[in-house]
Amino acid sequence: MRKSLVVSIQSGKGGVGKSLVAANAAAMIAGRQARTLLIDADINFGNQHILMNVAPTHSIIDCVVSSQVLADTVVRINPFFDLLAAPLQPHTIDEEIRTGLSLDSLLVTARQTYDVVIIDHASGIDRLGQQAVKKADRIAVVTLPELPAIADAVGLCKYLTTAGAQANIDLVVNRVDETDDAPVLGESFRQICRQLGLREPQSITDLPNDSAARQALARQAGLADVAPEAALTVSLRRWAHSLLTPQGPAPGSTATFRSINELMTIAEEKE
Ligand SMILES: Nc1ncnc2c1ncn2[C@@H]1O[C@H](COP(=O)(O)OP(=O)(O)OP(=O)(O)O)[C@@H](O)[C@H]1O
Ligand SMILES: [Mg+2]
Repeated sequence: MRKSLVVSIQSGKGGVGKSLVAANAAAMIAGRQARTLLIDADINFGNQHILMNVAPTHSIIDCVVSSQVLADTVVRINPFFDLLAAPLQPHTIDEEIRTGLSLDSLLVTARQTYDVVIIDHASGIDRLGQQAVKKADRIAVVTLPELPAIADAVGLCKYLTTAGAQANIDLVVNRVDETDDAPVLGESFRQICRQLGLREPQSITDLPNDSAARQALARQAGLADVAPEAALTVSLRRWAHSLLTPQGPAPGSTATFRSINELMTIAEEKE
């Protein structure tokens, strides 16, 4: 079976930057010629279609409830990048459908079609987030460098531990300013996890607070297009590309996903 990578982007607290991270990481990975699917799993308030400036006619609901073929449901952003949008009329989804939502068969199909699947979740621990915990290869816990958001990130790690998550956990501390002592914060987070007996993050990444985020939003375009050299773009690109290698980013690497994938296969065969 071909290799694929499923990355679930979650947070305890809302508004911490999950959608920005998911959208731009997906675009950056697709830029490496990896077939990439971005799933907007924020059923009620998903707005990836706004970030991408597209008008979807179908949504994730059509796939998981009506078993509509995935290829007929996605919006093509570019030859390597598809979006499975959130429903445009979430208030019309009845309770029975909501409680029956499942990502399982969608992810099986997505893994067969795409090299990388990025899932943008609603904040908190919702049904689709819980399901993704069991199916993802990596879970990005996005937080801000402030106490309530950190406390909620610890809370999410508690859930991930209790739920028996096997995926690698990547802590992403977003909107870091020069006045924040990011390395100390990351290390404190690790220590808290250790003391509480929680799954510790495999990696901790800081993303700067950067006006490029607002510029990209205003133009409904990706950071790489709007502000390719901005500090946020550079840091996010490094993190996104690190998802393609188990060891993290190779500095200055320009290898495509396919060659990285081949290296991973060879490495696994040697084990
Ligand atoms: N590094 C950053 N620098 C500056 N602004 C940022 C940064 N990251 C995110 N933002 C801004 O913060 C706001 C919230 O981001 P976003 O919608 O991605 O968060 P979210 O976690 O997906 O929210 P929700 O929980 O509602 O889904 C947006 O206006 C976004 O542009
Ligand atoms: Mg969001």
